[in-house]
Amino acid sequence: MNNGLLLFLGILAAMMSSWFGFVHTPQVQFGNLLPERDEITGATFPSPRSGSANRGRAIYRENGCASCHTQQVRQEGYDFSVSVSDFGTNTVDVSSVLAGLSESYTQGSPLPAVPYKLAEGVDLREAEQTVKKLSNAGAAARALISVSGSDIERGWGIRRTVGSDYLLDAEVMLGSVRIGPDLANLGNRNSDSNWHYVHLFQPRQVVEDSVMPSYAYLFDKRPVNGVPDADALRYDGELVTDAEGRQVIPRNTAKDLVAYLLSLRLDEPVFEAPAPEQEKKATPSEDAETEASPASSE
Ligand code: HEC
Repeated sequence: MNNGLLLFLGILAAMMSSWFGFVHTPQVQFGNLLPERDEITGATFPSPRSGSANRGRAIYRENGCASCHTQQVRQEGYDFSVSVSDFGTNTVDVSSVLAGLSESYTQGSPLPAVPYKLAEGVDLREAEQTVKKLSNAGAAARALISVSGSDIERGWGIRRTVGSDYLLDAEVMLGSVRIGPDLANLGNRNSDSNWHYVHLFQPRQVVEDSVMPSYAYLFDKRPVNGVPDADALRYDGELVTDAEGRQVIPRNTAKDLVAYLLSLRLDEPVFEAPAPEQEKKATPSEDAETEASPASSE
């Protein structure tokens, strides 16, 4: 056993490096995260789930939904652009600055309509310099962030998920297999609880080729005596029935599960992952982009 010490040190090193990797580093990264309170609006992030939604989380877990659904949105990159909301009154100066910044604009020609977007796909520094030049000439401009990545293009979220999104969840169901879509932002995508009931009862009723299993045991089935119950499932105005023609009524477990599904939202702004502003009905031309304030650290 001449190599005893060497063996011991080797094993110790292996143990210590895995302890650092799996215990220490995550603790340093996430261990001190706390819910944050917005001093202006008084809202907390992440916003707490209702009691029903919290019970629904357990039902989500019990039913193995995480074996087909992830709850993590990835983002590959981000860049910036500049949006001018007002060219101001100093037309001469603004016109000459704009001519220097935009290739499609020639000095002296009439100023374009606002909101006007320029310098697309630039980094934050360049966007801020552009904003500065425009503001010095009297125009109102701001930098906008846009994020990219396959999950974003699929419409699964407007920003990536970060550690603090899961702060209030005792067990985090990130999932690793995507047989179905990612659900991290489901509540924003589809908040129609009736759709979710019908989909859980019989996915093929609402999505023709769905391979998702039916969760009919979360529903009571009762024969219709005369008038169907008020809370019996309906779809497209028609009563939803099981194979025996009985009406279908969500049990509390189904109600909790749907409350949980609707509570899955990724719309809160976080410092680590600035999100584009969500589309506002009033200004449809300004699509999914926002001010880049949280990232403007030097
Ligand atoms: C065998 C894999 C599988 C399991 C298990 C599964 N799903 Fe699905 N799910 C899918 C597939 C595939 C789709 C896409 C087709 C569809 O909408 O039915 C889907 C779609 C969904 C949608 C609609 C998503 C959207 O963006 O429109 C929701 C909500 C959903 N599942 C919830 C659940 C819940 C809750 C559970 C657990 C009770 C669950 N799923 C279990 C495969 C699965």
